[in-house]
Amino acid sequence: MSLEQLLAWVPPGSPDERLAREINVEQLPSHVAVIMDGNGRWAAQRHLPRVEGHRAGIESVRDVVETSARLGIDVLTLYAFSIENWKRPRAEVNTLMLLLKRYIRLELKTLIDNNIQFHAIGRVEELAPDVRHELDLGIRQTERNTGMQFNIALNYGGRAEIVDAARRAMAAGIPPEALDERTFGGFLYTAGQPDPDLLIRTSGEMRVSNFLLWQIAYAEIWVTETLWPDFRRRHLLEAVLAYQKRDRRYGGIKPSPVALGAK
Ligand code: FPP
Repeated sequence: MSLEQLLAWVPPGSPDERLAREINVEQLPSHVAVIMDGNGRWAAQRHLPRVEGHRAGIESVRDVVETSARLGIDVLTLYAFSIENWKRPRAEVNTLMLLLKRYIRLELKTLIDNNIQFHAIGRVEELAPDVRHELDLGIRQTERNTGMQFNIALNYGGRAEIVDAARRAMAAGIPPEALDERTFGGFLYTAGQPDPDLLIRTSGEMRVSNFLLWQIAYAEIWVTETLWPDFRRRHLLEAVLAYQKRDRRYGGIKPSPVALGAK
């Protein structure tokens, strides 16, 4: 995918087109991670049940997935359901699972058409069999795709991921002296993928909420007041443009001209 693929899809002369043309394709974030927040508030503003916010949020997911793939982002990770989200009312949890299953079923063709490889990250084995079945279907049918990797974080917790990685490293018999950051990274759910360069959070909250704790060590964080169901292609392009204006130092004192967007 490339900027041309994106431009072919945005209405000519639109503000989205102007934003897209401002992007430097040589300095794209390789991995974009998103904390989709504000669905409940979006629904409350409209005097609707919370689940209507989640339902509306699916349209944002569609837009962001296709925009990212067309733009040439290598990895997109969306935080859909945290380990802590089980504390929500049963009806809300059930609706979220239903929406997820429906999303995969309805969007599979778009994922395949856009050469997207689908993954689920988190303690996926603890999800209900019908949800796992749908996830497996999506994973298997897109496994040969070579374009953007799209992770949905489900039953996900950053600390749980680190514990799981430690357990896997031990089970694999890695001797303590052989365990370094690179080796450890190979036991995370995101093994083989670059760490996020850009972390987006919607709805104005300044928290990382137990999301990709290991991987976001050097991520640039971009927070918008926009609630997730209102988040569209335009906002993603704005986030990428803001990212491209940052000086990434990785703890050093002099930003390297090649550091930004380094793959
Ligand atoms: C946070 O909003 C959002 C969630 C907990 C769920 C996000 C899920 C979706 C958008 C739908 C399913 C996703 C996919 C990938 C198909 P909140 O309810 O915490 O909002 P609030 O902070 O305003 O209450």
